[in-house]
Amino acid sequence: MPDPVKVVMFSAQRYDQQFFDDINARQFAGQQFHLAYQAVALTAESAILAHGCAAVCVFVNDVVDAEVLAQLAGLGVKTVLLRCAGFNNVDLAAARRLGVQVARVPAYSPEAVAEHAIALIMTLNRHTHRAYNRVREGNFMLDGLLGYTMHGKTVGIVGTGKIGVATARILKGFGCIVLGHDPYPSAAFRETGEYVDLDVLLARADIVSLHCPLSPATHHLINIVSAGKMKPGAMLVNTSRGALVDTAAVIEALKSRHLGALAIDVYEQESELFFRDHSSEIIGDDVFQRLMTFPNVLVTGHQGFFTKEALSEIAAITLGNLQCYMEGRNCPNEVAAG
Ligand code: NAI
Repeated sequence: MPDPVKVVMFSAQRYDQQFFDDINARQFAGQQFHLAYQAVALTAESAILAHGCAAVCVFVNDVVDAEVLAQLAGLGVKTVLLRCAGFNNVDLAAARRLGVQVARVPAYSPEAVAEHAIALIMTLNRHTHRAYNRVREGNFMLDGLLGYTMHGKTVGIVGTGKIGVATARILKGFGCIVLGHDPYPSAAFRETGEYVDLDVLLARADIVSLHCPLSPATHHLINIVSAGKMKPGAMLVNTSRGALVDTAAVIEALKSRHLGALAIDVYEQESELFFRDHSSEIIGDDVFQRLMTFPNVLVTGHQGFFTKEALSEIAAITLGNLQCYMEGRNCPNEVAAG
């Protein structure tokens, strides 16, 4: 019997353990993967927990920079398994230099994230979050709950990859006019919408939904200038990565009433807040707290991926990536410095 392959998972939540243990037992029983779960995020301080492990498994807010990678390599870690699609938190050049392989889960359930984007749009537009509380208090007044009909509205999709296309398809079903912007246009998107320049999209869209990855080129894609180009009263939706949006700029756009509504599942400084219970603490992030004061802002804590189907697929693909490496095969989901 071969020695078990030890993997430490950082930022592990109860549901991670539940789904990974289940998939490990059902689909990888012969592989002898030994999974250890750590609630702490991977940082320079916590990297030592990978001692004796062949691989680490990380999520969106774990720190996988050059310093951490050097520590991991020094501990004998050969593989970083991202249990997410985005890899903006990994220094890929450092990983290559150190001989550390990095693999991700490129697609698990694009529809899960797309459906959450739609949930945000519909909640914010029809104020169902406010209606829920009102009705429970016996208040059946409709003031303040006025929305608009989605049918016939123009929606701009920035980034027409897997999630962007899934979102576009749902919106087409609503009867929306769908515009897209992407440096790499796809036939799949053309079935549902029309490609236009970003400035045209911003000027025409009643709702702008961001579905591109975070990179130096997309950092603060929505800033004071681009927010100013949006149609007055439009809604901005970000389920992609927080730093696509300059939060200070959108706060100004909300205060001036130019931006009509904001729905975000991701936030630039989310690593300090998300995936933890701060309900008995004083939150020191004044920018976030300012966002919370707007009635036309809706925030969820990075839950776009959070469906049973997506969690099962994430676990299966992540362990499948590990299996590839352990068997010396090329991993189709490897991400490498370009
Ligand atoms: P994808 O790789 O299939 O699509 C991304 C698209 O963005 C590509 O077509 C690419 O050409 C395009 N793009 C790149 N630079 C662009 C730019 N400057 N302007 C416009 N488009 C640009 O990725 P997928 O699976 O659709 O995921 C998109 C993003 O969603 C991920 O990068 C990740 O950050 C985020 N995400 C969020 C989740 C959540 O729980 N909220 C879960 C999963 C992904």
